[in-house]
Amino acid sequence: MRTCYTGQVCLDHLDQTVTLFGWVHRRRDHGGVIFIDLRDREGLAQIVFDPDNEAAFEIAESIRNEYCIRITGLVRNRPEGTINPELKSGEVEILCREVEVLNASVTPPFQLDDDNLSETTRLTHRVLDLRRPQMQRNLMLRYRVSIEVRKYLDNLGFIDIETPMLTKSTPEGARDYLVPSRVHDGQFFALPQSPQLFKQMLMVSGFDRYYQITKCFRDEDLRADRQPEFTQIDCETSFLNEEQIREIFEGMLRHIFKVVQGVDLDATFPIMSWDEAMSRFGSDKPDMRVKLEFTELTDVMKDVDFKVFSGAANQAGGRVVALRVPNGAALSRKEIDDYTQFVAIYGAKGLAWIKVNEVAKGRDGLQSPIVKNIHDAALAEIIKRTGAQDGDILFFGADKAKVVNDAIGALRVKLGHSDFAKEHGLFEKTWKPLWIVDFPMFEYDEEEERYTAAHHPFTSPKDGHEDYLETDPSKAYAKAYDLVLNGWEVGGGSVRIHREEVQSKVFRALKINAEEARAKFGFLLDALQYGAPPHGGLAFGLDRLVTLMAGADSIRDVIAFPKTQRAQCLLTQAPSAVDEKQLRELHIRLRNIEVK
Ligand code: AMO
Ligand code: AMP
Repeated sequence: MRTCYTGQVCLDHLDQTVTLFGWVHRRRDHGGVIFIDLRDREGLAQIVFDPDNEAAFEIAESIRNEYCIRITGLVRNRPEGTINPELKSGEVEILCREVEVLNASVTPPFQLDDDNLSETTRLTHRVLDLRRPQMQRNLMLRYRVSIEVRKYLDNLGFIDIETPMLTKSTPEGARDYLVPSRVHDGQFFALPQSPQLFKQMLMVSGFDRYYQITKCFRDEDLRADRQPEFTQIDCETSFLNEEQIREIFEGMLRHIFKVVQGVDLDATFPIMSWDEAMSRFGSDKPDMRVKLEFTELTDVMKDVDFKVFSGAANQAGGRVVALRVPNGAALSRKEIDDYTQFVAIYGAKGLAWIKVNEVAKGRDGLQSPIVKNIHDAALAEIIKRTGAQDGDILFFGADKAKVVNDAIGALRVKLGHSDFAKEHGLFEKTWKPLWIVDFPMFEYDEEEERYTAAHHPFTSPKDGHEDYLETDPSKAYAKAYDLVLNGWEVGGGSVRIHREEVQSKVFRALKINAEEARAKFGFLLDALQYGAPPHGGLAFGLDRLVTLMAGADSIRDVIAFPKTQRAQCLLTQAPSAVDEKQLRELHIRLRNIEVK
């Protein structure tokens, strides 16, 4: 039997004999004495093999990295000067009395303590990659977060109910993963994009507080914060309004951060409307650690000679903004050029700028390729609105509002995370949660020339906005909210429509006719007829939350077996071809690929 985890041996065990199981992290032969750093999920401990113990020493000589071994030995102080404050076991070492090799290991394809491994190597050899201390910490953190979620929700009377994985298309709006039915020729299940419809039906069934930590599947373009299968902390409640729902779930976040990280998040999270977020930051998930914001200039630029600005200002749906960067006049030409290339990724056709050398000198105190084409009154208004001071730089975006928001919003984050921002106090290293509320109900899809649901079609309009559904859907706002943490959307939800007549209006605004609504969501519409309670909820992205808490760059670092950006599992080589017999049973013939 193990006495304790290897990583937990410490001064408490001094002079005791311990038995440890683990893997050989490193072996150092100091001519005469052999040291092994033994590793298990809790950390490392130093084992010493003295030549006086011939049997143990001989085995230690044959041991290599990643062997799985058992040792029994005496815990003693490390000699002066060899203490390692980084390790829990750093003040002690274990003098080995007995060692047994439980299993040898072939030479690993990489050093586990190599910090520069490519992701391909890591994902191909994920079993070994997961042995690395950082990955062990990440997955244990993930576990602790889900346990605390369960405790918190259980305390408030939430119950965990499982919902199907083989189901019908759900309304989140990504592409579905389909599963062919063998029994029903030509028919398919969809893997759920979320349990949305089931949790609403559970409310109608009377389970007024539901939660589930569950997988969701979305076939969409992948990024650092997106996986094709990811995990939601999915929640739904009856009889609560928006504020009450938000209160419960920001409490959950506070609880997790307090218990798992020892961090006190704000006592109440700030709330900002979607309109304000777009206006000030060009984003519905602003990173509030960054102390930079937009200045609206559309109205000021209508009559300037600089066509880039006046064109955008006079175009329907156009926008002109400035981003003031205090002390930014110190940025070099090369840095400005790099930022110009960066905003081009988001569709910006350029990045105009003004270096404010000396406000008091008026036009002469400004250095810029564009000021010659901007009249005095407009220049004065730019300086006034931005509050520019000597030594600042102003960047400008002028285009359709979406391009400006995307480009200058991304520039704000890029600049805000730069060393320059950190040196000049433009970035605050802390936790900044923020609720974004009052989303528009709909987004206009230019290609399809129709409105689509901004959240999903079961989201309730704000009180008093129901008439807009028929007169001007673009004016209808929703009882929807997102929780943003340090610039990541970690959760989102809404109060739902629980009355049939409102639901029908939303479908009409979305140009979903009655027949289509029945075919897609008939089962939910039917359920809503039986005294459906007012209800609402939200879902957190567990992967994203844990990624932030772990300080990792990608959600792949907190998922045991993730997919690559190309939606493949390098470990198992999924997806992979299947044989003809399987396909035939599923009534499937492949179009382009010849099957042997
Ligand atoms: P939504 O689509 O906003 O809402 O998803 C909720 C949260 O899930 C996370 N998330 C993802 N995480 C990783 N990879 C992905 N591909 C991915 N997509 C989403 C985000 C997001 O905030 N049914 C509604 C919730 C509700 O209304 O109750 C829903 O799924 O953190
Ligand atoms: P130009 O007149 O094209 O030489 O551009 C003058 C300045 O305006 C350059 O610094 C460009 O990067 C910038 N610029 C061009 N188009 C835009 C735009 N749509 N938004 C902001 N700046 C722009």
